[in-house]
Amino acid sequence: MKERVDVIVRAGQLVTCSPGGAPRKGAAMRDVAVLAPGALAVRDGIIRAVGTPQQIESSFEVSSEGFIEGALVIPGLVDAHTHPVFAGTRIDEYFLRAQGATYLEIHRQGGGILSTVRATRAASDEALLELLLPRLDMMLMHGTTTAEAKSGYGLSASEELRELRILKEGARRHPLELVSTFLGAHTVPSEFSEDRGGYLDEICSVMLPAVKQQELAAFVDVFCEEGAFSLEETEKIFCAARDLGLGLKIHAEQFSSRGSALMAARMGAVSCDHLLRLSSQDIEALRGLFTVLVFMPGTELFLNIHEYGPAREAIDSGLAVALGTDFNAGSCLSESMPMAMALAVLQMRLAPGEALIASTVNSAHSLGKGHLVGSLEPGKQADMVFIDCGDYREWLYHFGVTMVSHVMKKGSMVFTRGAVARPGV
Ligand code: NIG
Ligand code: FE
Repeated sequence: MKERVDVIVRAGQLVTCSPGGAPRKGAAMRDVAVLAPGALAVRDGIIRAVGTPQQIESSFEVSSEGFIEGALVIPGLVDAHTHPVFAGTRIDEYFLRAQGATYLEIHRQGGGILSTVRATRAASDEALLELLLPRLDMMLMHGTTTAEAKSGYGLSASEELRELRILKEGARRHPLELVSTFLGAHTVPSEFSEDRGGYLDEICSVMLPAVKQQELAAFVDVFCEEGAFSLEETEKIFCAARDLGLGLKIHAEQFSSRGSALMAARMGAVSCDHLLRLSSQDIEALRGLFTVLVFMPGTELFLNIHEYGPAREAIDSGLAVALGTDFNAGSCLSESMPMAMALAVLQMRLAPGEALIASTVNSAHSLGKGHLVGSLEPGKQADMVFIDCGDYREWLYHFGVTMVSHVMKKGSMVFTRGAVARPGV
């Protein structure tokens, strides 16, 4: 007797990215596990089995609507790092940088993060939600089914908690799954410009306990950088977060090298992110520590830096690398993981398989979700992307456009691309 399931997916090429039980390190990042053709059975939103079409169809049955065909099918992409709750625009900074201004110069002059803080504080909950939802749509249309999402444009207890609540509401109203991170330590707000210690106390004694108590975020992040928070301040926030049982993430070595990734990894951070200025000595020292290194080449492109982080060296040293978009108004206004992957291939010299593992298995583990998403394996969520292309390498070769035709989240089709109306001939 065949087992009845809800959906059977048949793909010309099924890229499973299995095994996904742990972050892939070094040379193990290259193997994406291809079945051509491949198939999988889904019941109650969970993958029941994966194999050849013959294997799946001899063990499982579905109604005729339950059969779904695809050319290329890959796991739902996981964006390891985004800042999607904000109002206002930073368009002027973007064009100023294109003419030669730098991110830190603009930040020091009170632009940058603080200008987004002003606009975000002035926006109502409804307005912020209305801005958030189409951003999540855009992520989904480019194949992202799970994303990390940070607060960080409130910089007061009430405003930071409000952003985290908006993220929660956004996730309730959207198929994309969000993992929230508290980033109250994004920069010191103007009210505390003469009293950094006061702001640190506010974070540690008021904001973190409230985030924990109201279950608003799984992780705590700090922007450890000149003009933001020092290594010592970051450590203090991490100690308070860890005592509350919150996970740790860090904006590390983005513009200057200060040993912040190593410090965070030693304190148990699940990921160290940005890392443009990660040194060779730190890469060496990170071996043996359990952390995922998240690179976001879209930021380097958008900030007009003309240099990219040492992801190649990190993989060659046996570390686990993930990718994210860093989506935000100031340093990367792009929701596209395929764009991040294209840049990782073109500018960071990742192999296509490495870029894909970095955007699935490894980014899932960077969010503590590796047991649920990131690969197509029995027991995991049926999150997958259907792509109009015969082969994943060919897909990554065709950059800067979207070839995503359908997206499935937990067994349901949540995105279907519309058709072009061509004139008859
Ligand atoms: O990840 N580096 C700090 N935070 C953001 C930028 C946010 C902003 O400029 O608004 C980043 O690049
Ligand atoms: Fe960031």
